[in-house]
Amino acid sequence: MSFDYKVADLGLAEAGRHQIRLAEHEMPGLMSLREEFGASRPLKGARIAGSLHMTVQTAVLIETLTALGAEVRWASCNIYSTQDEAAAAVVVGPNGTVDNPQGVPVFAWKGETLEEYWDCTEQILTWPGEGANMILDDGGDATMLVHKGREWEAAGQVPPTTDEDSEEFGIFKALVRRTLEQDGQKWTKVSEEIKGVTEETTTGVHRLYELARAGLLLFPAINVNDSVTKSKFDNKYGCRHSVIDGLNRATDVLIAGKLAVVAGYGDVGKGCAQALAAQGARVVVTEVDPICALQAAMEGFQVARLESVVENADIFITTTGNFNIITAEHMQAMKNKAIVANIGHFDNEIDMAGLAKVDGITKTEIKPQVHEWTFSSGGSIIVLSEGRLFNLGNATGHPSFVMSNSFANQTIAQIELFTKTGDYEKQVYVLPKHLDEKVARLHLDALGVELTELSKEQAEYIGVDVAGPYKPDHYRY
Ligand code: NAI
Repeated sequence: MSFDYKVADLGLAEAGRHQIRLAEHEMPGLMSLREEFGASRPLKGARIAGSLHMTVQTAVLIETLTALGAEVRWASCNIYSTQDEAAAAVVVGPNGTVDNPQGVPVFAWKGETLEEYWDCTEQILTWPGEGANMILDDGGDATMLVHKGREWEAAGQVPPTTDEDSEEFGIFKALVRRTLEQDGQKWTKVSEEIKGVTEETTTGVHRLYELARAGLLLFPAINVNDSVTKSKFDNKYGCRHSVIDGLNRATDVLIAGKLAVVAGYGDVGKGCAQALAAQGARVVVTEVDPICALQAAMEGFQVARLESVVENADIFITTTGNFNIITAEHMQAMKNKAIVANIGHFDNEIDMAGLAKVDGITKTEIKPQVHEWTFSSGGSIIVLSEGRLFNLGNATGHPSFVMSNSFANQTIAQIELFTKTGDYEKQVYVLPKHLDEKVARLHLDALGVELTELSKEQAEYIGVDVAGPYKPDHYRY
């Protein structure tokens, strides 16, 4: 078998395979789905274009999808988040060798340029034979390429690049322009094949709801993020782990006693604030939403505006999924050697473009993904992962166990959309609660959890079935 792929070094495959083997042990959700569906192979015929951080945990997801019958092509959804050994191991596959890879075409390596990033995203949607019929997305870039590609194809051209466009959007437009020159129907054909998309994260989900509201969504979507067993676990407990991991690996600065600002107190912010406080940092939260601000205050965190604390804080973490949270002006007002990092999906939470334009500023690479920006005053700040999600850029993202929850949801969502396509309109759906409860159930044994069983009478008394679901859809956990 020969196939196209692009990774850093296939020689890393053995190291990756060892890590994948250990991760499998920590991912009981995915492994039990392999047991449950390995024989019936409900994803037979599915051709999945995956755009999601190419980590060890994602390798276990990919090999679960193939064990369930799918064909897969994969790219990372961030230029820094690939673990090169995981990418190599997935290409080689469990039964292949470096000289005879038998796995899955992966197009991902740590430290892609933006041009390379978008080329890789195009690659996962460009299949040698029949095209992709499913997308598995994280942040919505693959979905955006199909939607914008089709929109601009219909208009007959890609709009000219302007000064308003970010550098990345300019690169994106150039890519689509090139594909249109090669085949003026490419994205129309691709979009007509796609049965649906399953989306991993808050930011990608926002984009999907916007498309659906505007009546522009080209295929049905499942919002995996808002499964309770995703956002209330991965976003919160995953970040509670990886925020510290990222800071330690990047800087190894002592967190205890430091003043740390967490911008945003949603699921990600809650996990980050808790972790920093557990390390002994004094945590200040910024919020726009009065409910989240009140929650933060009741957890004992000071809630303030960034301007009130910007001169005194040692560590800044943005978690909002919004843009321009930390501006170039803020960064100039910070303490010497303040650490600035973003854990939200896109790099525009911190105004990196504005920072680069500050008069007299210089940038020194301390090590990859750790940069000191020195102002003409002589003071400097440390920016992690160039403003991109630093828990994946400076560390290895969330640990396997929590990702097993997220990816069990992804797998179930792929089966759902692929096998019951006709049941879904061009709208955004969440998985039904019994499947959410199923994902949680798959993870209890590994933690030695003893679940209490409802008696028939108790179930009747509170108006639920003995086997669940145990809560109404509006319950918030
Ligand atoms: P969320 O919507 O639960 O929380 C975001 C919070 O930020 C909200 O409470 C909102 O009111 C607040 N906010 C918005 N604008 C603000 C501003 N100007 N100042 C202060 N607060 C503001 O979203 P969630 O799930 O916490 O996700 C946040 C981001 O993290 C998203 O981009 C998501 O895609 C990403 N994410 C990253 C992960 C990672 O591993 N790095 C994991 C999971 C999510």
